[in-house]
Amino acid sequence: CGIVGYVGEDAALPVLMDGLSNLEYRGYDSAGVALVDDDVSVYKRSGEVDALRSALPAAENAPQTIGIGHTRWSTHGPPTDANAHPHTDESGRVAVVHNGIIENFETLREELGDRTFTSDTDTEVIPHLIAAELDGGATPQAAVQTAADRLAGSFAIVVAIAGVDELFAIRRDSPLVVGHGDGETYLASDVTAFLEETREVTYLEDDDMAVVGDDGVTIYRDGEPIIVETEQLEWEADAAEKGGFDHYMLKEIHEQPRALRQTLSGRFDIDAGTVDLDLDLEEAYLNSVEEIQIIACGTSNYAGRYAAELLESVTEVRTSVEVASEYEFDGGRDPWRTLVVAVTQSGETADTLSAVRKAKQAGARTLAVTNTLGSTVTREVDDSLFIRAGPEIGVAATKTFASQVATLSLFAVYLGRVRGSVSSAEATTVLESIRALPGAVQQILDDEDYIREVAEEHGDSNAFFFIGRRFGHPVSLEGALKLKEISYDHAEGFPAGELKHGPLALVTPETTVLAVVTEGSNADETLNNIKEVQARGATVIGAASAGDSTEYLDVQFSVPDIGLLEPLVTNVYWQLFAYYVAKSKGRNIDKPRNLAKSVTVE
Ligand code: G6P
Repeated sequence: CGIVGYVGEDAALPVLMDGLSNLEYRGYDSAGVALVDDDVSVYKRSGEVDALRSALPAAENAPQTIGIGHTRWSTHGPPTDANAHPHTDESGRVAVVHNGIIENFETLREELGDRTFTSDTDTEVIPHLIAAELDGGATPQAAVQTAADRLAGSFAIVVAIAGVDELFAIRRDSPLVVGHGDGETYLASDVTAFLEETREVTYLEDDDMAVVGDDGVTIYRDGEPIIVETEQLEWEADAAEKGGFDHYMLKEIHEQPRALRQTLSGRFDIDAGTVDLDLDLEEAYLNSVEEIQIIACGTSNYAGRYAAELLESVTEVRTSVEVASEYEFDGGRDPWRTLVVAVTQSGETADTLSAVRKAKQAGARTLAVTNTLGSTVTREVDDSLFIRAGPEIGVAATKTFASQVATLSLFAVYLGRVRGSVSSAEATTVLESIRALPGAVQQILDDEDYIREVAEEHGDSNAFFFIGRRFGHPVSLEGALKLKEISYDHAEGFPAGELKHGPLALVTPETTVLAVVTEGSNADETLNNIKEVQARGATVIGAASAGDSTEYLDVQFSVPDIGLLEPLVTNVYWQLFAYYVAKSKGRNIDKPRNLAKSVTVE
């Protein structure tokens, strides 16, 4: 999602609309603005920014010099006009734009009792909370602060209040930046929104409160005003869109800890060993399921394979994974007892949609696991589970793979608990591994310079073989796919045990083998395979659990000890390896030749 805010001498509306257009590259499904004077006037629409433009007043009817705007990427509630931001309280005097997820919005809604809510969003509780504080006599700033203190989860919010000539901004785990202009001040979730206006900026820290008025910004930390330090941005607009990274793919690789936190936010209770996914599929039905069929393409298919391995071990339900274009609902299965899970980031992949239709026709129940609320798949299935990774622009999927696996891992634990196949203690063990993901992924990102060196040293091999067992197998498939997609090198992923049944014939001293030997990958059994390729002169780059002895590897990558999900963390090494090999070859990383982000033909 994208946030913009403006306080200055000019009419706010055109400034906000420019800001929203500048954020358009991030992809979104609805947009809106609120203009403030003695009243708050809100204009919002689902769809493209053009749909919003047609709902706006003429310039002469929009003289307000204070306003806020938002582009939405849905997480709670489908993309409709009502769910678009800004959201207001009942009286319409408090307007809020918000990025992130409010984990306790249901509790807060209940507390707010008889107030009327008009959207399905978690955001809408915020203007109601602020209005309740104002009703109780609080000053605007105190009202915003008290409301923010009540929120659990991640957020960046900007608040406008009728009759108040200031905007209030506050953040936790979601970015907000102030732009200092001449007699005007900007707020945004991303500097791209106002880069053409000013390059002098201040990034807010967690729990900072910025109050923006005619005379600029005051920032409060722990209730006290602080000295506002500014920095000068050197980035060009193109670099800014990529957050200063050279490619969207690299930016998205780096976004994984945050994406994973969003994926997991509010969805499990570690001590109780329980998971809450807000599913419509009834527990009685889930108890009766005899078989799960996962259907997906490309990277989503490999996420499905990772999940299948976990589903089988946690739920004892037979789980198959099929490439969507190969899917048929075979006879001999009871459709009523078969749950078909379509994994698709975009929700628009034609092969996956066609497989979903076949499953439905056969009478099976269907569940979509997707990043895109309101996408075609969500309109066709019985139920949807959102991965909340945020928009992904690089053609090669990265953060969505991690978030898909994390979401499906939660689903596996949920199903295991519903069916009684795992105890709460066992569930807690898996959940601990899931909870450790964001931090573990960050540790790999911190090792980026070393990964780049390794990629540059070994990038000229004539072939790359990715091997691993158990959870290491889907990660090997995904690692090879990433490399071939963006570097155009020959890369294959194999179950480590299959090497000797064929691929070994291709191994020469010019081959690089990338092996997963972490927890969850039956590493001991893979050691022999590593010896086999080393005996043919190949170089072996291996990712092993921290603390394991790894001298037998030619190049060692270390994965934090987090248990079953270590192979998923290893995937971040493979992503960065692929990225730097491709970069050293000057490839078109964000848009590889012949490939599309979403393939809408069969
Ligand atoms: C295309 C993309 C892949 C993606 C696949 C499935 O081939 O290039 O990166 O994995 O589609 O996409 P989906 O949106 O269904 O996950």
